[in-house]
Amino acid sequence: MSAAKKLNLTLKVWRQKNGNAKGNLETYPLADISPDSSFLEMLDILNNGLIDKGESPVVFDHDCREGICGSCSLYINGEPHGPARLVTTCQLHMRSFKDGETIYIEPFRAKAFPVIKDLMVDRSAFDRIQHAGGYISVNTSGNTQDANSIPIEKEDADEAFYSAACIGCGACVAACKNASASLFVAAKVSQYALLPQGKIEAKDRVLNMVKQAEKEGFGPCSNTGACEVECPKGISIENIARMNREFLSASITK
Ligand code: SF4
Ligand code: FES
Repeated sequence: MSAAKKLNLTLKVWRQKNGNAKGNLETYPLADISPDSSFLEMLDILNNGLIDKGESPVVFDHDCREGICGSCSLYINGEPHGPARLVTTCQLHMRSFKDGETIYIEPFRAKAFPVIKDLMVDRSAFDRIQHAGGYISVNTSGNTQDANSIPIEKEDADEAFYSAACIGCGACVAACKNASASLFVAAKVSQYALLPQGKIEAKDRVLNMVKQAEKEGFGPCSNTGACEVECPKGISIENIARMNREFLSASITK
């Protein structure tokens, strides 16, 4: 069996020294890339070459490289996490690209995600939204009821599980023309709203998380559905409808 043909590529990579500097696309030719390499391994190869030449490597976010942590980002050929569906940038492979292709690599762009350097953006706004309500309070005095002994409808448990699959990557924001964080906030609100453990703080949670998202500068949702298409974890926009119902009900009754 012959080895898969190696790829010769032209990379157009966004380089920006810091948040205040003006950025630009730099062109880097890259030869002999295995189609079995991951996208981030391809960037590692680029960086090794830059370091060998005494140049500064391209800064990009990554951690688990297993599609779990939500650290990797990247706008690749105009799409958050690139051309493949339901995969993060770290799980994207070079077989998704053609020999001779030019690949544009840019940071996620949103006012609430300022560029730190090159392809790395500050997504701490998501942490602050989580802090505003993405938790439950549990009495840990020793007489806490075992979670497994609380009956939950199978449908609700499944829906909560799907919502909890959100890894907080921010692709939904990057895909949205309004830079709305609605899909992220809705996934977090839904995860708890569907479970009995989350009902106690449900009203405060939705009001505070939505308020924090607005404060951070994320835009409004205009239902284009781009977020759902680009979400690597398949989070449904039905979560946004649930969040809106929760928000309305909390606004009236709180
Ligand atoms: S909803 Fe999807 S795209 Fe948005 S942060 Fe969560 S996993 Fe990422
Ligand atoms: S590096 Fe963790 S999800 Fe991509």
